[in-house]
Amino acid sequence: MCKLCWTSLTAAILVIAFVGYKIMYPTAITPSADGRMAIELTAGERDLVLTEMRDFLISVQTITEAVTTEDMAMAAKAARKVGTAAQGAVPLSLVSKLPNEFKKLGFDTHQQFDQIGLDAEQLGDGSQALKQLSTIMRNCISCHAGYKLVAVPEK
Ligand code: HEC
Repeated sequence: MCKLCWTSLTAAILVIAFVGYKIMYPTAITPSADGRMAIELTAGERDLVLTEMRDFLISVQTITEAVTTEDMAMAAKAARKVGTAAQGAVPLSLVSKLPNEFKKLGFDTHQQFDQIGLDAEQLGDGSQALKQLSTIMRNCISCHAGYKLVAVPEK
């Protein structure tokens, strides 16, 4: 048996598997100077995620305002706007570039907004909604602490 043949064959298979994996899952996540991990997206993909982010902020503002004016229907509507249904707009090609931890945090955030919507409608309790919002905002903080988005030319 040729030991060298087996070694080079194994090495070749590993290289092919690695390249294939990289083509199918072109995740580019690199450390950056500010301590966060930089996720590389195309300019269009980055815009889409940032638009979603601004929608989060709008809902946070609307919910706090709705609680102070005791308008829980408005709070529910604002929460649902950024619930799991909002995720449908994100294409798979973009989702595949996001690290698992990022996806988990993002999905959990959408789910928690759905819960606020449900509870705001059924319980109509403003302080409950604020409490839930404060829990959600831990997700905003922890994701922002860990990741940033950089636009790179399409590969
Ligand atoms: C799963 C991760 C994640 C979660 C959860 C998250 N964000 Fe973000 N957000 C990001 C990243 C990454 C950026 C881009 C930061 C950068 O590139 O410097 C961002 C940017 C933003 C921006 C700037 C948008 C712009 O146009 O530049 C706002 C506003 C924002 N987020 C609001 C929120 C709010 C409010 C929440 C919680 C309700 C939230 N985000 C939850 C990851 C997240």
